[in-house]
Order: sequence, then C-alpha cells, then structure tokens
Amino acid sequence: MRIGPYTFAGRYFLAPLAGVSDRPFRALCREMGAAFAYTEMVSAHGLIHGTAQTLSYLDRDPSEIPFAVQIFAAEPEVLARGAVAAVAAGAGLVDLNMACPVKKVCGSGAGAALARDPAAVTAAVRAVAAAVPGVPVTIKIRTGWDDGLVNCVAVAQAAEQAGAAAVALHGRTRAQGYSGRARWDLIGAVKAAVSIPVLGSGDVWTAADALRMRAETGCDAVLVARGACGNPWIFRELAAAEAGRPAPPPPTREAWRETVLRHVAMQIEHRARQHPAQPLEETERLSVKELRKHLLWYTRGRRGGVAFRREAVRLVTAADVAALIDLHFPPDQPFEVDAGFHPADDAGEDE
Ligand SMILES: Cc1cc2nc3c(=O)[nH]c(=O)nc-3n(C[C@H](O)[C@H](O)[C@H](O)COP(=O)(O)O)c2cc1C
Repeated sequence: MRIGPYTFAGRYFLAPLAGVSDRPFRALCREMGAAFAYTEMVSAHGLIHGTAQTLSYLDRDPSEIPFAVQIFAAEPEVLARGAVAAVAAGAGLVDLNMACPVKKVCGSGAGAALARDPAAVTAAVRAVAAAVPGVPVTIKIRTGWDDGLVNCVAVAQAAEQAGAAAVALHGRTRAQGYSGRARWDLIGAVKAAVSIPVLGSGDVWTAADALRMRAETGCDAVLVARGACGNPWIFRELAAAEAGRPAPPPPTREAWRETVLRHVAMQIEHRARQHPAQPLEETERLSVKELRKHLLWYTRGRRGGVAFRREAVRLVTAADVAALIDLHFPPDQPFEVDAGFHPADDAGEDE
C-alpha cells in the first residue's frame, strides 16, 4: 500500500481524532501494529502563528515516518501557509480536513463545509500541493453535506485531478454527525471512480469490521477511529490477520494494566515536554485529567468498570490510577469483556 513516495507495511491506520490521536496514543497504536497514524486536526491559522497549543500537536516520535499532520482552514492560501509550517516542523504528509462537522469549523467555511463545492476542493489541493512540493497532500471528506448533497465521488475526482495523493472517506454526511450507519457502498463508489488510494472510515468497531470493509468496498486502507479508543489492541488483531496468523488472544489483565499505566506515564512525559517549567505535580495532575476519557474507554464493558468510572473523577496521580485499577480489577477476578458488550453501544462522540 503506497501513498506518494511512502510504502506502508499494513493497511490499517489510526484515524485522525481530535483530542485523542496525540503522540502517546499514536505511539501505542503503532506499537500494536497500526501501519500509520494521523495527528488530530490542527488549525492552519494556529500553525502560521505558532501558538503554543498548536505546536503541542506537532510533538512526535522520530520514528513516525511519514509524520502525517491534518490541517484545517477555509482559504487555500491559509491552508498552503499552514502546510509549509507543518512541513517545516517535520510533517512528511499533509492531510486536509474536509470532514469536520463542528459548527464553529464549518461556520468559517472549513472542515465539511469546504467539500460542498468541488471547485473549492480543487483550489485547496492545488494551493497546498504547490506550496509543499514533494510532500503528498491527501484529503479527508464525508459522503456529502446532507442527504440532498451527496457529492463524495465528484469531490474525490476533483481532488485527484488537483494532485491529491489519496482520499479518505468517512461514510456519513455532515448532517449525520456520528449517528446512523456509515455508507460503505459510497466508499466502494469512490474507489471505483478514482485511481489514487482510497481510505475507508466509519463504523469500524472490531477487527472483523475492518476486514469486512476492505472486502466489501475494495478500499486500499481502513481508518480505525472510535474502535481504537480504549482498544489499541485492535491493531494487533489486524496485523495478525494481514500476516495470515491466528487472532491473538485478548490482553490479559496484567498486559492491559501495564498498557494503561504506560499510557499514563507517556501522557505525563508528553505534557512535560510541552511545559518544561511547570511543576511536575501539576504536570501529572493535568495529564491524568487529560487521560480520563481514555481511562473510561479502557474500562468499558468490563466487570468493575462502572465502579471505576464512578470514582475516576478523583484521580490525580499515576499512583492513584494504579490503585483504582487494582481495587476494581483485582488479579483474582475474571477479566473478560462482558458478554453482549459492543463498543458501539457506549461510544465517545465528543469531537
Ligand atoms: C472524538 C472524535 C474526534 C475526531 N476528530 C477528527 C479529526 O480531528 N479529524 C478528522 O478528519 N476526523 C475526526 N474524527 C472522525 C474520525 O476520524 C472517523 O472518520 C469517524 O469517527 C468515523 O469512524 P468510526 O465510525 O469508525 O468512529 C473524529 C471522530 C471522533 C469520534
């Protein structure tokens, strides 16, 4: 699987996820077998002005090649300048967000609003590709604005003609947000209409879903989004399936605990790099707070999870997290995911 000059070992990628796909979570997912992971969406205006919050999104592990930064703005020239700043900071692939449904973003003409008009998509891709020659430019779109404007095939074709190196399609309209079913048939339609790689997204909750999406749509790669939240092990299953190996058993309680606590430690290191002058106690407190959503996801559908989540608001230190895990997930208790639990029943949709 290739995008521009890059060859990927696998076809299962971590999707861009605002507030989630930061350096620590990307590292965990890549370690588990994700072939590639995007940053969360980053404001091109913020990149141009070098705001501290924006620059924190560009923290990366040197082994992230290509470092794929997703940017958003409405105007082609702002996207182009943002892309130049991202590349100067190490980006080796620039993805343009034309999928975000949030009112504030769409209200400014960015995100999903940009893809209402294929001509605007052409202008955006052309401007960015010209500004960062040699760096592949990709786009992420939805199926359309609403049921009355389902234009993903035209938009993907416009992007290809303008020089995009790949197109990712979330199979929902902007009006759908994250509800309803994703239209995988439209992922297949886009795949049939362009010759650049097509990355499918939407309703990939389990490894079986990801394999089925590839088989049903013919897409070149699959983006795992909410299905990876609390379950980076999904990439281990997918890597095994790709290699023709049997599915690995789910993590043991000990392996799960080790990963969760390592995630906490990585978050603290990540924050400490952004705020070197901050007292360490404050860095730890804020990191644990930031990580709370992940802790809620990690404990979904497990015996002890409800009690853990009830008390999670009180967590302050990494040691608190370890103690609460040991209280509610003791080593001598069964650790399997509850029968009947499905991640879609209890998904975070807080973009
Ligand atoms: C919390 C959250 C944050 C997201 N952030 C982004 C983002 O920054 N950029 C983007 O292109 N899509 C973003 N998405 C959309 C996902 O990448 C993905 O396309 C969508 O969730 C559909 O996949 P799923 O149904 O398998 O979750 C986000 C989704 C969620 C739930």
